[in-house]
Parts: sequence; structure tokens; C-alpha cells
Amino acid sequence: MRSHTTIKFNPPVIGHRGACAYAPENTIASFTKAAQLGVKWVEFDVMDAADGQLIVFHDESLDRTTNGHGEVSQYPYAYLDSLDAGAWFDLRFSGERIPKLRTVIDFLQEAHLSANVEIKALPGHEERVVKQVLEQLAPYLLSANNQFLFSSFSVNALRLLRKYSPECLLGLLLHEWEPDWESICRSLHCISVNVNEEIMTEAAAHRIKAMGRLLLCYTVNDPARAKQLFSWGVDAVFSDVPDKIVAFS
Ligand code: G3P
Ligand code: MG
Repeated sequence: MRSHTTIKFNPPVIGHRGACAYAPENTIASFTKAAQLGVKWVEFDVMDAADGQLIVFHDESLDRTTNGHGEVSQYPYAYLDSLDAGAWFDLRFSGERIPKLRTVIDFLQEAHLSANVEIKALPGHEERVVKQVLEQLAPYLLSANNQFLFSSFSVNALRLLRKYSPECLLGLLLHEWEPDWESICRSLHCISVNVNEEIMTEAAAHRIKAMGRLLLCYTVNDPARAKQLFSWGVDAVFSDVPDKIVAFS
């Protein structure tokens, strides 16, 4: 397993769903904006359409971020591709599409961006999503151009990532302090713990750093909070406004 010393967060910010305060989340427009703002890392969410195609999308429902309705998983990609994923945010972004993972990977290569790939597979879909994600990213995992850190709230997805890729960089994603988070982190050789900033304390930060893990916090949009987290040893924060963190750091 590669060590986390192979990862650098400079500046110490990861554009959350791209730069989602400025452009519609998880679209090429959002990743383009993040690159323009000077970030080197972006985070995005991956799930599968009804026909198994991998897409970059956050919610289980289409309603909030597209002009469609209902469950994403009910529709094949050809239908999802016909939806508008930008106008809800601002009419300037009309015509933005739900991107395929492959399209985003191509963009990352061109833009020299690294990425935290968050697996958001529905229960029962984890294995096919994980296998496909690893297959699509395999040519790039050892590239010097960019790096990939995989994470998920689903421990099952993390176990499958480790099973099918002993080498991949894994982050344990925690919304709350799960009782067994330390043993999961150790047994899956996670290089990072990606924690909800609302539950982060100085003591917890020191504990994670003492375990020799990278510590990432989401979602931090207040530079003063970022400053406090960095003083506790946090390595990088996920932010909707990455420019505000870049300007400060
Ligand atoms: O990976 C950090 C963060 O994106 C996790 O929460 O719901 O925004 O995907 P969510
Ligand atoms: Mg996410």
C-alpha cells in the first residue's frame, strides 16, 4: 500500500463537488470553475444509472439539481443526458449536463486536477459501481499527472475498493463518530479520515494525526473555521468556496 506521504494538499483545499457555490455542483462547469480558482483537488460523487453507466451526481433524486423528477437509479443514461443540470442553479448554466464519470476523468487529465472520488452507490449496487470505477480509473492510478483518493460512507464500498485494489488510496468518510471507526480505518489501510467538520474537536484531530492518517474535514466555507482546523493539524478542507480558503491559506 502506498503511504499518504505520496499525497500533497497544496493549497490545503478540495473543491467540494467542484466549486459548488459558483457553478452547478458535480458538472464540468463546476470543475472548470474550481480549476480557475486555483485548486489542485476536487471532490465529486459517483453512482450508477439504471443501465449501469457511471455518473457524477450527488442526490438519489433528480429533483433538486435537474429539471427531471424521481429517482436517478430508475433512468438509463440516455435519459439522464437529456436533462438540464445547470439552469436550477443559474440560467447562465442552462445546458449543463449530468456528466459521465468518463467525461470527468478526461477533464481531470486535461486540467491536471487530482480528485477525491466519493462512492455513493445505492445498497446492492456497491460491487458493480466499485468494479467499474476502478476499471475506468485504472490507467490513471499511477499517473504523475494527478492522484485519486477514494472514499465512501458505505463501509461495504470501502471493503470492495480494498478487495479489488490493494493499492488504491482510501479515505474513511465519517458523518458521525462510528464506534468502530478506528478498527475500520486500520483494517482497510485508509490513508485518510474525512470527517464532518461539525463533529471535529481538537482532541479528535490529535488522535487521528497520532494514528498517522491524513485528516480532511467537510464542508468548510468559513475561513476562520478553516484556520482553527488547520491549527489542530487538519491537512485540508472540502469547501464550496475554495477561493476563500486558498486566499487565506
Ligand atoms: O466527501 C465529503 C462530502 O462530500 C461528503 O458529504 O453529502 O456532500 O457528499 P456529501
Ligand atoms: Mg460528496
